[in-house]
Amino acid sequence: MSNKPYVIVTRKLPELIETRMMELFNTTLSINDKPMDTDELKEAVSKADILVPTVTDKIDKEILDCASDNLKLIANFGNGMDHIDTDCVRKKKITITNTPGVLTEDTADMVMSLLLAVPRKIIEGEKLIRAGTWQGWSPTHMMGSRIWGKRLGIIGMGSIGQAVARRAKGFGLHIHYHNRNRLPNVVEEAHEATYWEDLDQMIPKMDIISVNCPSTTETYHLLSKERLESLQSHSYIINTSRGKVIDENALAGLLKNGKIAGAGLDVFEREPSVSKDLLNSPNTVLLPHMGSATFEARIEMGEKVIVNIQTFINGHKPPDRII
Ligand code: 8YV
Repeated sequence: MSNKPYVIVTRKLPELIETRMMELFNTTLSINDKPMDTDELKEAVSKADILVPTVTDKIDKEILDCASDNLKLIANFGNGMDHIDTDCVRKKKITITNTPGVLTEDTADMVMSLLLAVPRKIIEGEKLIRAGTWQGWSPTHMMGSRIWGKRLGIIGMGSIGQAVARRAKGFGLHIHYHNRNRLPNVVEEAHEATYWEDLDQMIPKMDIISVNCPSTTETYHLLSKERLESLQSHSYIINTSRGKVIDENALAGLLKNGKIAGAGLDVFEREPSVSKDLLNSPNTVLLPHMGSATFEARIEMGEKVIVNIQTFINGHKPPDRII
């Protein structure tokens, strides 16, 4: 019998990380990389000392009620915690950690990719070339909208929101933001950012909105039907945070009826399913939740998981402990 803690990892992680986890802990890896179903998750929490889940594992009360007293740590591979019932975890005195910081820059790059791709019709142009139907250059063909000089409203000015602001400034965008707390003067000045305490006032004045806040009960459908309807018809929405922050049906309706100019979405309300209306929406770039999908980020996320576990085992407070 090993003295090492029993760690169950729900999905396939980068090889380097899996190998190191095998060396350090008594680890069960995911062989088929399929998201665990409810029964598999229940079994995992009933056996593991430490669980390493991802965004694809819905860890609610029903699952947590099956945890044995041995389950002491949930070391999430990822930043967002909306897939875990953290109140229930707290009551059961289980520690939770996440992996902040290491996916900030990559996610901000994804915001910029979408922010350029949608108004400049990058995907449409690419499809035309591959379809073999391009008739040659024309003065009025493939015209999109200029980015330079427009107003970008960032909802959620944490580390990712600020990384977006830094990039966007270089593209000539004017930075506006809404956040629970106003940033210190010096940070606001560095971004030349305008703060809006009232989201309802900010939204109709922006040309582009980027959603960068976490998904919580407070931010559920923060971009409600009413707020979406207050957007100007030439405006764009970018979401790399969580689908639940936007009322997806309402957004699809606006896109379909040309009430807004377009959307770039990396996340959806009911992943992996994407509503038919969105799939058929014009001027919309849809990506499969790949904001942090770089080799570097995924390895650094894994490193964080390992450090959190090891520190916890050694009897210390893990660096990324949220409970
Ligand atoms: C991760 C993310 O890949 O960390 C997050 O919150 O949204 C993604 O970039 C995913 O959550 C991994 O579990």
